[in-house]
Amino acid sequence: MKAKLFADRHFPIGEVDRRLFGSFLEHLGRAVYGGIYEPEHPTADEMGFRRDVLEMVKKLGVPVVRYPGGNFVSGYCWEDGTGPKEQRPRRMELAWSAVETNQVGIDEFQQWAKLAGADVMMAVNLGTRGVEEAKNLLEYCNFPGGTRYSEQRRANGFPEPFGIKYWCLGNEMDGPWQIGHKTAQEYARLAAETGRVMKMMDPSVELVACGSSNSGMPTFVDWEETVLNETYDIVDYISLHSYYGNPEGDSRKFLACSRDMDKFITTVAAVCDVVKQRKRSDKTMMLSFDEWNVWFHSAEQDKKLEKWTVAPPQLEDVYSFEDALVVGCLLITLLRHADRVKMACLAQLVNVIAPIMTENGGRCWAQTIFYPFMDASRYGRGVSLHTAVECETYDAGQYGKTPYLEAIALADEESRSVTVFAVNRSLEEEMELSVSVTGFGALRMLGHTVLHCDDLKAVNTADSPDTVQPRELPVGDTVVLPPQSWNVLRFAY
Ligand code: AHR
Repeated sequence: MKAKLFADRHFPIGEVDRRLFGSFLEHLGRAVYGGIYEPEHPTADEMGFRRDVLEMVKKLGVPVVRYPGGNFVSGYCWEDGTGPKEQRPRRMELAWSAVETNQVGIDEFQQWAKLAGADVMMAVNLGTRGVEEAKNLLEYCNFPGGTRYSEQRRANGFPEPFGIKYWCLGNEMDGPWQIGHKTAQEYARLAAETGRVMKMMDPSVELVACGSSNSGMPTFVDWEETVLNETYDIVDYISLHSYYGNPEGDSRKFLACSRDMDKFITTVAAVCDVVKQRKRSDKTMMLSFDEWNVWFHSAEQDKKLEKWTVAPPQLEDVYSFEDALVVGCLLITLLRHADRVKMACLAQLVNVIAPIMTENGGRCWAQTIFYPFMDASRYGRGVSLHTAVECETYDAGQYGKTPYLEAIALADEESRSVTVFAVNRSLEEEMELSVSVTGFGALRMLGHTVLHCDDLKAVNTADSPDTVQPRELPVGDTVVLPPQSWNVLRFAY
């Protein structure tokens, strides 16, 4: 099959924000305990953080990590995770029916984030708590000293404020599963008042209001409109969450699910713009896609887990090569909306629906989805360009007529390079791609890496961590994308 790609320097979409390659760590399953933190592990540092995991996180280059939830945050008392560890309470954790030991809290997490080279995106509990607790937490984290909570932080061994800039006003408050679930109007008022107080205390913080938990929610769109009506002048972002799966085993359809993400982003941006006009505002609301991934493999096994244990192996999806292709398509979609989506978090980072897996006390390895994410985080720099493709299409059921080629071109002035990310969705045919990115003079091809596997269901495990691995293809006169492949094409100008 032949395909063509067109882009031009003079048709930019927008500057790619580094925070598009953020991730998420929730107090859930083995994400924290047995994931990033395991004091008894042979690689643990003096704080109990696993060095082997940290090294892998650094390879992904995540600039921001959302914490501590997720559904978890809606029942969380942040104070439990501060101060001397031996005095911290164990609690019933209602979101995931587990026991929380509180051996990691914001004190430890901000230290870990520094080691990982990432900013913390902190969520406040607007499920069981409200303005007062959010205010206290912000004082604890960001106020230099001389007040009750800032002095508490200092007494706990942190003389300098943590300086946390990004704050989520609750999590998925539209979801009936959420602890302290609210109607749109109830949440909108609470988010507005919490946000107003937080900005009084620290005007430099950036706030994220909860959008819908996914675009299939019955209240989707009305929820966004109600929330933005109340919070438009106060918050900086509205959140989007979306997970995709292939329980029916229809790979052709599954590979097209990024079209749903595309529609979701376009719709939320449109709602934001309606509210903007209604308010005669000059401010454009930005989007924070702070939970996205493939999630479906672990659904059945999780039903068998015993309740009320510490760090059970929950949501441990083992990702196939096919999932990596979907993650590639989702990354391209985020980049295509670089003008509006300024933050995004791959959910999650370690063990829980994650690119990195660990054994308690043992090995850690990269899942298949690690690789497209690492490539995008490493090379997704500069400006994303309007990218048109000319290629054959196929019928992908609810996702409609879908081009076999999913692609985006980016130009980075600093490194004088153009990068093309491309997925060939065809399961049978290779694709000869003609790349026409103009306005830069002659482009010289630097390299072509590919993630391809004959078996769509191939996985990486502790015993065979390299089954799905990227490899370099020789640079020739023509660019050929293997069937079912994720590709990174690099050019110099
Ligand atoms: O990431 C797993 C869960 O998915 C989060 O806790 C929640 O916000 C979402 O429903």
